[in-house]
Amino acid sequence: LSTTEVDISQIEEGQSVTVVWRGKPVFVRHRTAAEIEQAAKDDSASLVDVQKDADRVQKPEWLILLGVCTHLGCVPLGQKPGDPKGEFGGWFCPCHGSHYDTSGRIRKGPAPLNLAVPPYAFLDDENVKIG
Ligand code: FES
Repeated sequence: LSTTEVDISQIEEGQSVTVVWRGKPVFVRHRTAAEIEQAAKDDSASLVDVQKDADRVQKPEWLILLGVCTHLGCVPLGQKPGDPKGEFGGWFCPCHGSHYDTSGRIRKGPAPLNLAVPPYAFLDDENVKIG
């Protein structure tokens, strides 16, 4: 399928789901207020791949990312409760130790780029189309 529709109405704040789009995992995270605040604050941190959080989301509470580490393509941890989230509170790639922040930006480790944002559109308040 070239597009994947996701019902986001049941994803509570602080929860994430992983869906498959074009054979790749896509992370859909309902961010908490604290995560959104941290992501905005980190706009002024020293970033490897400089990008503002506001340019990576359409709605601040919904962060949608390709779940593919930009180093060598492992799937970063941080989606499931209890997963390590790395030193910056987002995702951690256990393959070679890349740390991503609450905007999915690379902050430490060998990955060169932020987790990519796939094309997506909100169909309404409860449904998102990826692709
Ligand atoms: Fe993620 Fe190497 S594949 S750190």
